[in-house]
Amino acid sequence: MIRIKHFLDLIAMSKISILGSVLVTTAVGADAMLILGELLIFESNPYIGIVAYVLFPGMAATGLGLIPFGIWLVIRKSHRDPVGKLVRKASRKHVGQMIVSLTLINFVLFAFVGYRSIHFMESAEFCGLTCHEVMSPEYTVYQKSHHSGIACVECHVGPGIGWLIKSKLDGTRQLAGVVLDNYSRPIETPIHNMRPAEHICGECHSQDSYLGQKLKVFERYESDEYNTKTFSVINLRLGEPSDHGEGLSGIHWHSQEGLEIRYWSSDKKRENVVRVEMVDEHGHTNVWTKPGSDESAHAEEGHDEGAGHGRLMDCTDCHNRPTHDFLAPDFVLDNLLASGVIDPKIPWIRAISFDVLTARYETDEAAMSGIADLPRLYSEQFGDLGNEYAEALNDAVPVLQELHETYVYPEMKIEWNTYPARIGHPTAHTSACFRCHGGLLVDPDGIQITNDCSSCHYVLAEDEKDPVILRLLED
Ligand code: HEC
Ligand code: HEC
Ligand code: HEC
Ligand code: HEC
Ligand code: HEC
Repeated sequence: MIRIKHFLDLIAMSKISILGSVLVTTAVGADAMLILGELLIFESNPYIGIVAYVLFPGMAATGLGLIPFGIWLVIRKSHRDPVGKLVRKASRKHVGQMIVSLTLINFVLFAFVGYRSIHFMESAEFCGLTCHEVMSPEYTVYQKSHHSGIACVECHVGPGIGWLIKSKLDGTRQLAGVVLDNYSRPIETPIHNMRPAEHICGECHSQDSYLGQKLKVFERYESDEYNTKTFSVINLRLGEPSDHGEGLSGIHWHSQEGLEIRYWSSDKKRENVVRVEMVDEHGHTNVWTKPGSDESAHAEEGHDEGAGHGRLMDCTDCHNRPTHDFLAPDFVLDNLLASGVIDPKIPWIRAISFDVLTARYETDEAAMSGIADLPRLYSEQFGDLGNEYAEALNDAVPVLQELHETYVYPEMKIEWNTYPARIGHPTAHTSACFRCHGGLLVDPDGIQITNDCSSCHYVLAEDEKDPVILRLLED
C-alpha cells in the first residue's frame, strides 16, 4: 500500500506524469469500451478500427512513456534538494517495484490489443479504405478481379518477421507521406519489395492449371464510320512437356522448378532490360546483354537480396496486374461493342466514344460532364444522325461514365494506361514480353532471346474480317 501511495505521490509531483496518467486512463477506458462494443455490437469497420487499434493504443503508450519520464525529472531535480537524498533512495526501490508490476499488467493488455491491431491492419478494408483517396483506385479494381479474396498483405508483405518490420516501417513512412501530402501521384509500383509470388499464387494455382494451350479470340473495332470489325485468333502455348523430354516448353517455361531467371533494367519501371541471366537446373548459366547499353546503370533490387543481384523473375513479372488490372481503353471499348452494350451499328460510335473517354479531365466531375456531352458532340459532328440514334447515344453515356470512374483517377494522376499489364506485344506504354523478346538482347554468340511467333502461340488469324478458323470452330 505504501508503495502505491509513494508512487502516486511522485506522480503528483510532476505535471508531465499527471498528463501521462490522464492520457493512459482516458485512452485505456475509452478503448476498452470501444473494443467491447466492436466485439459485441458493431460490425467491424475501418474507422472504428483505426481509433480502437491505432489511435487509442498510441495515446496510451505515449502516456505510459510520460509517467516515468516525469518521475525521472522529479528525482533528478531532487539532487539539488537537501532532503532529496532520502526521497531518491526510497523512490528508486519503490518506483522499480511499481514499474515491474505495472509492466506485467500492461504486457497482457498490449498483447491483446496488439494482436487485434495486427489482425485489423492486415484486412483488405484497412488497406483499401483507410487512405481512401490514395488506395481507392487499387481497391476498386481489386474488387473486380478473380483475386479479391486475397488479403492485400498476402501479396504486399513478405513472410517472416523481417518483412513485417520492413512493411511497418514502409507503412509509417507512407502514412507520414499521406499526412504531409507529399506522396507520389501516381503511386509507384512496389514490386521490388514484394514477397516472391510463387508461394502466393501456388496456394491456389497448381502447375497443371496453367499448362496446355489456350485459344483466344480478339474482336476489334476500327474508329471509322462503320466501326469495322476484325478478328485475330491465336492459340497460346501456355506450356507443355518439352520435345527433349526434360522440363517444359512454351510460356510457363520461365516458371518451371529449378530454373532461375534474373534481369537488370536501367529504369525503375523495369522497361529497359539491359541484362538477363538464366541458371538452369544443372547449374549451367546463360547471359544475354543489350549491346551499347550501360549494364551497371541500375540494378533493380531482387526480393531476397540487395541491389546488384538483379530481379529474380516470378509470376508477377508477367502477371503484374493479377488484381489491379487497370484495363486499356481500346480493350474495354471493344468489349462493349462486341457485347452490344453499345450498338456497333451507330456510325462513328467507336471513334467518338474513344474521344470522350480518353480526353484529359482535371477532376472526376469534369470527366462525368465531359462524357455526358457525347450526344451533343455527336449531333454537332454528324447532324441528323444524332436524332436518329438519340436514344442509343443517351444510353451509352452512363456506361462510359462508369468505365471512366473505375479506371481513371484524376486526383491520383492515374490516367488510362498509367499501369499497363505486361502480357503481350509492345504498346506505347510497355514493351511487355518484348522487353526481353524484342530481339535486342543477345548472348555471347550474338543469338537473341527467341522472338519466333510460334514459340509463344500459333497465329490462326490476324486482323481478318471473316476468318475461316472461326467458322470451323463454330461447327
Ligand atoms: C494477388 C496479389 C495482390 C493483392 C491481393 C493485392 N495487390 Fe496490390 N499489387 C500487386 C502487384 C503485383 C503490384 C505491382 C504491379 C506492378 O509492379 O506493375 C501491386 C501494386 C499495388 C499498388 C501500387 C500502385 C499500382 O497499382 O501499381 C498499390 C497502392 C496496391 N497494390 C495496393 C493494394 C491494396 C490496397 C490491396 C488490397 C485491397 C492490394 N494491393 C492487394 C499485387 C497484389
Ligand atoms: C486464393 C486463391 C488464389 C490465389 C492465391 C491466386 N489466384 Fe489466380 N485465380 C483464382 C481464381 C478462383 C481464379 C478464377 C478461376 C480460374 O480461372 O481458375 C483465378 C484466375 C487467375 C488467372 C486467369 C484469369 C485472370 O484473372 O487473369 C490468372 C492469370 C491468375 N489467376 C494468376 C494468378 C497469379 C499470378 C497469382 C499470384 C500473384 C494468383 N493467381 C493467386 C484464385 C487465386
Ligand atoms: C526478363 C526477361 C523475359 C521476359 C520479360 C519474358 N521472357 Fe520469355 N524468355 C526469356 C528467356 C531468357 C528465355 C530463354 C531463351 C530463349 O528461349 O531464347 C525465354 C524463353 C521464352 C519462351 C521459349 C521457352 C521454350 O524453351 O519453349 C517462350 C515461349 C517465352 N519466353 C514467352 C514469353 C512471354 C509470352 C512473355 C511475356 C508474357 C515472356 N516470355 C517474357 C526471358 C524473358
Ligand atoms: C513469362 C511470363 C509468365 C510468367 C512468368 C507466368 N505466366 Fe502465367 N500466363 C502467362 C500468359 C501470357 C498467360 C496467358 C494470358 C492470356 O490468357 O492472355 C498466362 C496464363 C496463366 C493462367 C491462366 C491459365 C488459363 O487457362 O487461363 C494462370 C492461372 C497463370 N498463368 C498462373 C501463373 C502462375 C501461378 C505463375 C507463377 C508460378 C505464372 N503464371 C507465371 C505468362 C506468364
Ligand atoms: C514472346 C512471345 C511472343 C512472340 C514472340 C509473339 N507473340 Fe504474339 N502474342 C503474345 C501474347 C502473350 C499474346 C496475347 C496477348 C493477350 O492475351 O492480350 C499475343 C497476341 C498476338 C495476337 C492477337 C492479339 C492482337 O494484338 O491482335 C496476334 C495476331 C499475334 N500475337 C501475332 C504475332 C505474330 C505474327 C508474331 C511473330 C511475328 C508474334 N505474335 C510473336 C506473345 C508473343
